[in-house]
Amino acid sequence: MRKHPGLKTLAPNSRYSLERAKGLKGRSIAITQADLVKKVFVKSYGCQMNVYDAERMADMLATEGYSETKAMEEADLVILNTCHIREKAAEKVYSELGRVRELKKEREAAGQETRIVVAGCVAQAEGKEILRRAPAVDVVVGPQNYHNLPALLQKARAERVVDTEFPVEDKFDHLPKPSKTAIRNRGVSAFLTIQEGCDKFCTFCVVPYTRGAEVSRPVAKILDEAMRLADAGVRELTLIGQNVNAYHGEGPDGSVWSLGRLLHRLAEVPGIARLRYTTSHPRDMDDELIAAHRDLPALMPYLHLPVQSGSDRILDAMNRKHTGDEYRRLIERIRKAQPDLALSSDFIVGFPGETDEDFEDTMRLIADVGFASSFSFKYSPRPGTPAAEIEAQVSEAVKAERLARLQNLLEMQRQAFNRGTVGRTLDVLLEKPGRHPGQMAGKSPYLQAVQIESDRHAIGEIVTVRITQAGSNSLFGEVAGSGSQAAA
Ligand code: 5AD
Ligand code: SF4
Repeated sequence: MRKHPGLKTLAPNSRYSLERAKGLKGRSIAITQADLVKKVFVKSYGCQMNVYDAERMADMLATEGYSETKAMEEADLVILNTCHIREKAAEKVYSELGRVRELKKEREAAGQETRIVVAGCVAQAEGKEILRRAPAVDVVVGPQNYHNLPALLQKARAERVVDTEFPVEDKFDHLPKPSKTAIRNRGVSAFLTIQEGCDKFCTFCVVPYTRGAEVSRPVAKILDEAMRLADAGVRELTLIGQNVNAYHGEGPDGSVWSLGRLLHRLAEVPGIARLRYTTSHPRDMDDELIAAHRDLPALMPYLHLPVQSGSDRILDAMNRKHTGDEYRRLIERIRKAQPDLALSSDFIVGFPGETDEDFEDTMRLIADVGFASSFSFKYSPRPGTPAAEIEAQVSEAVKAERLARLQNLLEMQRQAFNRGTVGRTLDVLLEKPGRHPGQMAGKSPYLQAVQIESDRHAIGEIVTVRITQAGSNSLFGEVAGSGSQAAA
């Protein structure tokens, strides 16, 4: 990728003569720096790690002279950062690529070039197949290779390229750091990848194949990134990883640090008031992490701990390596450490061989545990995973019926949880202007969206809010003072 020669030396809005730029004589049409900067549009599908990766790709391309745009029509470079977790997610890529190809043609007719990159987990899983199915694509790049994007775009001038090798080097060592402005534009709550990949091999899941084996980033690098984010105004960090509580990174002292220990250290970073982590496996909730829920006020009382099913038979077939009762007992232990805990989970209905009885076990587990919010899915067979080979697949109609019943119960629990916060005072981290003038929107400790009436508070402030009403998707409340976390 060539950088425009004028970029570095031009101040914003400085005038530049097209005559000089093109070496022409005569007409002198002035253009601004904005006309010279190339634009990149990144669309992310799926999980939070894709959102994080998309930001890092944008940071990388910023050093190549690209600015980010939210309008695909004006993009010189379109990146689709894809998800392979379920069939629907993967198929979306090809329909979107159809639309991008049309756009490319239209822009071509107007003399503008559009280059297309497919990144993320579909890129990793399907590689060359994407080039075959979508002739307009220039580059296919896997989640561990996107630090190579500038070189790949350059190479693709001669021949379309695929880069899905699992490299020996760490991509994070090759990625530029985001600018303060970029961090600010992304808001006061930020994701930070601390771990990638998964060694659990649940039989339904493609992640161990697309994201590879578990790797933890060293503590020093995570701290460095956290301090940089905090310095630009970030107040809340969500530590992310495919199996984040399996974190076992190298500490500054050379010993191996667990997630619990890392959370304690991150809570000391000036400016950081709130910590969260996602997504976890029940088998990796160790004592140190459970104790952190008791001892660390910055660790929010909200835990996403997927259980997938409540049937021991299905949990075994899923290779989850725990039973329904073991999950119940684990939740009891965590609630003992932090009684004020909101729980969230993922559920799959219609896993191969799931009977009505198995499904009722899942409904019972949900009733026993109680969830503040959840994600639930119909089982989707993924090529190459063991469960896809099982003959006793459940019919679509049965899956649809079970999903509707399950979601109904989960929705009732979610609304009951939200109603239960009415009348309470909660600390709210203000994130953005609200829906209407004079309103601001933020998040409660339990990750609920909260709207308040205020024009005197700043984004990034943590205020104490008395919750007055629970709507279907947001809570509403009145400011009762500065939050107890405000001074952090
Ligand atoms: N079918 C349906 N849901 C799946 N998930 C992962 N793989 C599949 C699949 N093949 C769900 C799990 C996981 C979440 C991220 O996606 O519930 O926790
Ligand atoms: Fe997939 Fe999560 Fe199981 Fe790993 S632990 S295989 S990411 S569902």
